[in-house]
Amino acid sequence: MSHNIAIAIDGPAGAGKSTIAKLIAKRKGYIYVDTGAMYRAMALYFIEQGIGADQQERISEAAPDVDVTITYENGEQVVWLNGRNVNSLIRTEEVGKMASSSSVNKEVRKKLVELQQALARKESVVMDGRDIGTCVLPDADVKIYLTADSHVRAVRRYEELKAKGQECDLEVIERDIIDRDYQDMHRELSPLRQAEDAVLLDSSAMTIEQVAEAIINLCDKGAK
Ligand code: DC
Repeated sequence: MSHNIAIAIDGPAGAGKSTIAKLIAKRKGYIYVDTGAMYRAMALYFIEQGIGADQQERISEAAPDVDVTITYENGEQVVWLNGRNVNSLIRTEEVGKMASSSSVNKEVRKKLVELQQALARKESVVMDGRDIGTCVLPDADVKIYLTADSHVRAVRRYEELKAKGQECDLEVIERDIIDRDYQDMHRELSPLRQAEDAVLLDSSAMTIEQVAEAIINLCDKGAK
């Protein structure tokens, strides 16, 4: 049996992981697995159940009732929450913040890590998240830790929202990014950190194309 390839991309919020991971998946013909979307789908369920971000016991109790699955339509990942396509509902700040809070939960992580590992057993993947290189796919062929200065990340997010015609405040966005990074880096279970064998890429002064090219070069070298 031929060996499935796994490319792991971890890093803080807004570093450009999903844009880059999608591009690389397309060029290499692998599937793109957005693990943040899975945490967001679970978070949406908790919000809909009226569970608060600090109610860890209720999150643990509710976690077994949540079924998250992933399918692909025209190469795009579709996230299903208990049989409902929730792609258009999970991209809000509210869901992002709840995902960061509920992802500290052991039951939540166990469920989603198993799903992610099963996907990588079946196919060659480019998977992005916070703990892919350190925990989900420790034997990934290529590991990237993609980061950027928090101000640069906030400006990118601000421009994105503005282009969509949404009202936003740069200072609030930057504060939210810093808070979420802090929470993701300081939790007890698989916190966000650079794996020892990951290559650090700081995209602050790089274009999307330059980052993609750097990662493709690493893939072609088969570097870890
Ligand atoms: O990448 P994102 O913004 O969609 O992720 C939302 C939250 O989900 C993030 O703040 C922390 C959590 N997450 C995680 O704990 N582990 C992952 N592999 C991916 C996301």
